[in-house]
Amino acid sequence: MLFDTGNSIIQQIHIEEFDNRGIKLLVKRDDLIHPEVSGNKWRKLKYTIEHFKQSKCEKILTFGGAFSNHLLATASACHALGIPSIGVVRGDEHTPHSNPVLERCKELGMFLYFVSREEYAQRYMEEYHQELHSSFSNTYIVNEGGASYYGMIGCQEIIPELPPFDHLFVSQGTSTTSCGLLLGLTHQTLHVVPSIKNYDSVNEMTSLFSKSVFNDCLIKELLEKVEVHNDYHFGGYAKQTPELAEFINYCEKSLQLSLDKIYTAKAFYGLIEEVKKSEKYDHSTVVFLHTGGLFAGGSHTVKPSNELPAKNDL
Ligand SMILES: Cc1ncc(COP(=O)(O)O)c(C=O)c1O
Repeated sequence: MLFDTGNSIIQQIHIEEFDNRGIKLLVKRDDLIHPEVSGNKWRKLKYTIEHFKQSKCEKILTFGGAFSNHLLATASACHALGIPSIGVVRGDEHTPHSNPVLERCKELGMFLYFVSREEYAQRYMEEYHQELHSSFSNTYIVNEGGASYYGMIGCQEIIPELPPFDHLFVSQGTSTTSCGLLLGLTHQTLHVVPSIKNYDSVNEMTSLFSKSVFNDCLIKELLEKVEVHNDYHFGGYAKQTPELAEFINYCEKSLQLSLDKIYTAKAFYGLIEEVKKSEKYDHSTVVFLHTGGLFAGGSHTVKPSNELPAKNDL
């Protein structure tokens, strides 16, 4: 295997109130898999790349915003495997020097193709894919955020790496990770925390499952194990507040847990609030999946405030 998921340890977190209630809080540290192909990224790319290898294609093309964790992970994995890569980047005002994520993608050999927002909006359209195939021959196209059946089954593999648990919390963007986790569950509950305002988790998950040929009955049964927590987007995708910054600081200093400000900090904040609110978590094991994102959204990255990631930076 290219990236060793054995690096992804289980970290126990002690919070006095939770300890007193007999709650075991564990973090699955997928962020430790690799600094660039981190968190859910290798999970989503693993079978996608296997599928690419079985195709006759010679290069991988994918989509992302200027701060996309997925673009960076694809560039890095392709570089390590000797696969040429192309990144279609949202916003033709950008250059490879716009920010550290794009700089690094370029350094890793990814060909960056900057397109207008109007053109980027066509990223799921078959006709647009045909156009891209004519411009870049022999290309395997990977959806934005690695969203696909192959992405999902890679994420399913996280479940057998976990100790026995009752509740699993995860951040949501495209829903690929949460759909994959759901496939691996037996009796446990999956708690999804969207980082996007007004995100319809059930609808998004249903649509992703339907595209992967799951039938309505099975989808309904799977979704019965999901609880959606919609109140932790902090104003919307990539929006920040002083309270969130303070929380990131607290986690880093008091819990020895670094979180990114776009996905994992919001989801972990949601976990803490939900567990505080309800007795149903007493004497249970609660797991948080750390989905990475620290390169683009870590507290070390300095971004001018008018250059925050947009919704399509998945
Ligand atoms: C760090 C991080 N966490 C969570 C997510 C959300 O995962 P998904 O898009 O599979 O719902 C993303 C986006 O892909 C991400 O970059």
